[in-house]
Amino acid sequence: MINSLLAMTKNMHTTVSDIRGHVGEEVELKGWCYNFRSSGKIFFLQFRDGSGTVQVVYSKAELPPDQWDLLDQLRLESSVIVSGVVKAEPRSPSGFELTGTFFQPVQIAEEGYPIGKKEHGPDFLLDHRHLWLRAESQWAVMRVRDRIITSTFEWFHENSFVKFDTPILTPTSCEGTTDLFEMDYFAEEGQAASKAYLAQSGQLYLEAGIMSLGRAFDFGPVFRAEKSKTRRHLTEFWMMDAEAAFVEHEGNMAIQEALICRIVEDVLKHCQAELKVLGRDTAPLQKVKAPFVHLTHKDAIVKLRELGSDIGEMDDLGADDETLLTQQYDKPIFLERYPAVVKAFYMKRDPQDETRVLNNDLLASEGYGEIIGGSQREDDYETLMKRIAEHNLDPKPFDWYLDLRRYGSVPHSGFGYGLERIVAWTCGLHHVRETIPFPRMVNRITP
Ligand code: 4AD
Ligand code: MG
Repeated sequence: MINSLLAMTKNMHTTVSDIRGHVGEEVELKGWCYNFRSSGKIFFLQFRDGSGTVQVVYSKAELPPDQWDLLDQLRLESSVIVSGVVKAEPRSPSGFELTGTFFQPVQIAEEGYPIGKKEHGPDFLLDHRHLWLRAESQWAVMRVRDRIITSTFEWFHENSFVKFDTPILTPTSCEGTTDLFEMDYFAEEGQAASKAYLAQSGQLYLEAGIMSLGRAFDFGPVFRAEKSKTRRHLTEFWMMDAEAAFVEHEGNMAIQEALICRIVEDVLKHCQAELKVLGRDTAPLQKVKAPFVHLTHKDAIVKLRELGSDIGEMDDLGADDETLLTQQYDKPIFLERYPAVVKAFYMKRDPQDETRVLNNDLLASEGYGEIIGGSQREDDYETLMKRIAEHNLDPKPFDWYLDLRRYGSVPHSGFGYGLERIVAWTCGLHHVRETIPFPRMVNRITP
């Protein structure tokens, strides 16, 4: 049934991505008018259908007069059905052109499509995000995003990780309490009304998952009420958390390295046209190959100070420090063993230096900075209880999490990536606001 439906839609019309197989044939395409110009006798229609863009060239002498009149009424972003004979055209970006034989509007767009071909400021574009998504650059970004998601799922499934869905409504925090979105929640049986929080990461639940599945990953929206108005911060973003039993700190980094290499390789392999639209210089991405650079936090601080930063010995790195550091290397950097005081309660301490944890951030090259945060987890019940107390957290909501250390605890590690930061890096975009269909930031929740 589904197959015959698919065949039916294929017979009904072709797509731009398919025309290469139809040179010399007449095809019908359905989509939108991206741009047009007319010389009075020849009409050039820039046609897009989601799968790609192609130029359709109509000649007044060849087209029925009623259809030529309709072309005269055409406006930007009108929906249209076109037919034409496919011709190889080396000068066109798609490599093809259509000699138009038929034109029919589906809906003539209203006059004054808000997004012209001139430059617009970021606020104007974000106010019109629902339309801006149709621009070729945004089309390209969304396709790269889709590729990264696909490659992530493929790589994990090829490596015995199981997709495990973690909740969004949670009774407690995962990454500290300063940036939690809080909401009222129903009372549990016999209790007063309670609070719920939007998940900052699925990690803690994933730790429960791997005690059943061995290796697991989640993928979904997470929320941070961060007041940061930087080019790297959203209040809602998509995170992939991965977790593996019997994997320690070094193994955890090896998994991250292999995943990131695969993602970049696939983007280079499958998204050449998109990267071209975005004007992305792919040379730096070609260099993203194992082994990545490894630096301890301690060594990084020394280096940063040499480079002029005033960062303190036990400080977390700021965005500027990350940018500075990544500019010294042409590969991503594993920044390891941070001071425990700047990191989360669940991270296992470094046995060689108890003031530090067995964690890593992964910094993307070319100034992009942190794309992954990960660590080995504290697996001892008593120690974890102590950490919860040290972080001034109420142990009660963590009772279930502590059970994982009571019943068959094992060494384990995991990490989480921020999808939008990886999209920004691979696409060469300055700001993460363009990497998600509808960005949510401190000062924006519309459209
Ligand atoms: O480093 P983070 O906070 O790590 C965690 O949440 C861990 N629980 C993950 C784990 O071990 N399973 O966040 C992970 C990644 C960051 O490296 C960054 O790429 C991204 O999420 N990220 C953000 N992206 C956009 N906007 C924000 N406000 C972000 N905060 C973190
Ligand atoms: Mg982090």
